[in-house]
Amino acid sequence: MRLLTLLLSTLHFLTRALASQGCGHPLHPPPTPGGASALLKLDTGESRQYLLHLPQAYHIYSPVPLIVAFHGKGQTNKEFERQTEFTKPILNTLGAIVAFPQGVNKMWTGDPESPPRKERDDIAFTSSLLTHLINTYCIALEQIYIVGFSNGGGLTNLVACDPEMSTRIAAAAIVSGAIYKDKSLKVDKGETLFDVCKPGRTPVPLLEMHGSKDPVIHYDGKSTPDGETVPVEEWLEGWKVRNGCKEGGEPTWEGEVHGGSVKKRSWWCGEGKEQQEVLGHYFIEGFGHGWPSILGQGDDEGLRFGPVGWNATRDIVDFFGSKSLPTEWRVPGKRVRDEL
Ligand SMILES: *[C@@H]1O[C@H](CO)[C@@H](O)[C@H](O)[C@H]1NC(C)=O
Repeated sequence: MRLLTLLLSTLHFLTRALASQGCGHPLHPPPTPGGASALLKLDTGESRQYLLHLPQAYHIYSPVPLIVAFHGKGQTNKEFERQTEFTKPILNTLGAIVAFPQGVNKMWTGDPESPPRKERDDIAFTSSLLTHLINTYCIALEQIYIVGFSNGGGLTNLVACDPEMSTRIAAAAIVSGAIYKDKSLKVDKGETLFDVCKPGRTPVPLLEMHGSKDPVIHYDGKSTPDGETVPVEEWLEGWKVRNGCKEGGEPTWEGEVHGGSVKKRSWWCGEGKEQQEVLGHYFIEGFGHGWPSILGQGDDEGLRFGPVGWNATRDIVDFFGSKSLPTEWRVPGKRVRDEL
């Protein structure tokens, strides 16, 4: 019986999923599948922490998707897990492994108060974490997703823009992304950190959600307390073009969802059969700065302006479920096709 299971799951990953190097590795819990997330350490020159959740159905021979979730500034990964509920089976319908890294001093590269990228590079940290996870656990390489809130959304954008990292992720989601214009975030040639966006593959399918009354990262990018940010419309326009849609192109689909409280727009682009939703946007009427969910957040409602009647996590997981990394990108930064 055990041999049969083994054979079947081996067959499963040979035919359907691109199994990561960690498939077949014996499991040394914690975390236990379906149990509480475990706080683990990763040594990348400095010791970094992350929370890791394994789904109930985890099996060392069956590749499963991976979601890496970046908290907002001032948060812990534990709080972010509780707010987003990415580890709740009812919302994690992909049965994904979920990793919640912890930013140093509760922030990430991309925040004006975080050290320059030369000194602390959270894109490089994300790369090390990904490599560690795929070498240790059985992950479907074509189903790796990233998501982030606020400053964590800014980092998600930087990862999606990165020439190498963009070739390792299938899709990304951002809630109230903090995409700063701050000149102190300078990189080479006078460009600021967020001016540089050169994904190594396109499209990088993205979903962004933003409250119309966000008091921290204003929708129009102005009067934002921590300094100007890129207005959401401008940010959408950038990704529209990068992801292969027409400049200034109208959305393919536009309408109200979640009982009219959300105006959703989505752009479907690409050639013929490859046509897909490459960019989606939620304009959340009257919503502030926080994670959209039906869950109360205790004392933290001041900026969020209360719960909504739906769970962003569910929509994000659904979006992820419709995306997978094209096969030729399973070798990081390299088209397999070019090697043949
Ligand atoms: C939202 O998440 C909660 C778990 O906190 C769950 O009970 C509820 O059914 C979910 N609602 C929807 C519409 O997904």
